[in-house]
Amino acid sequence: MNKLRFSLLALAAIALGTVVLGGVVLADDDDDKRGGRRAPDVMPVEFALYQSECGSCHFAFQPGFLPARSWRQLMGGLADHFGDSAELAADDRQAIEAYLVTNAADRVAGRRSAKFMQSIGRDTPLRITEVRYFRSKHDEVPARLLKHEQIGSFSNCIACHTRAEQGSYAEREIRIPGIGRWED
Ligand code: HEC
Ligand code: HEC
Repeated sequence: MNKLRFSLLALAAIALGTVVLGGVVLADDDDDKRGGRRAPDVMPVEFALYQSECGSCHFAFQPGFLPARSWRQLMGGLADHFGDSAELAADDRQAIEAYLVTNAADRVAGRRSAKFMQSIGRDTPLRITEVRYFRSKHDEVPARLLKHEQIGSFSNCIACHTRAEQGSYAEREIRIPGIGRWED
């Protein structure tokens, strides 16, 4: 390779690196009003066993919304899981708990997980929807909207957040059944 070609390549690599890094830094921001696609709020679920076992009754919540201690406690009480039995074979239970703990809000980087942790402090919530930060983000959603047959409760993230499965909760991706786009 001649010298000129090499330095052009190096320049291209630096430029690409800057774009990638820039994207990550911008994506960390809370609002998405500037448009363009930002990085996910939380790491999407990529563990098939978790998806199938814990995503059968409801949306498979991303582990980055609760601390490791919450997931441990939740996984220790599956016989009475919010009034249902969600019991699993011991090896599946262990594998899922390990996945949740490793990717918990206090174990991974990410601005949204950090915000949940700040709000949780030393508590051990078993519900994402009871975390103060979650409530503050949803306090403008009137309770009557939840009665829509396609929603039911705030636990049904995917009913309103069209890209929840991708770990993306951006405002412009929200479509509320019975209402449509969310404008505040
Ligand atoms: C048999 C059905 C069932 C299975 C299987 C199940 N869940 Fe649930 N889960 C529920 C119900 C019911 C609720 C309460 C939902 C509500 O209040 O709207 C719930 C709520 C939750 C919540 C709290 C959601 C919130 O409001 O913030 C978490 C977290 C959760 N489940 C995690 C899990 C995990 C992890 C697994 C897999 C080990 C699992 N669930 C498997 C039925 C199930
Ligand atoms: C009834 C519809 C609805 C449901 C169900 C719902 N959300 Fe939301 N969510 C909203 C609305 C509306 C906002 C507020 C957007 C705004 O005004 O900033 C929001 C905001 C958020 C934000 C902040 C986004 C941002 O850019 O500031 C996160 C994170 C979030 N929701 C996560 C969740 C999770 C996780 C669940 C399920 C446990 C959930 N939501 C369930 C409607 C919903």
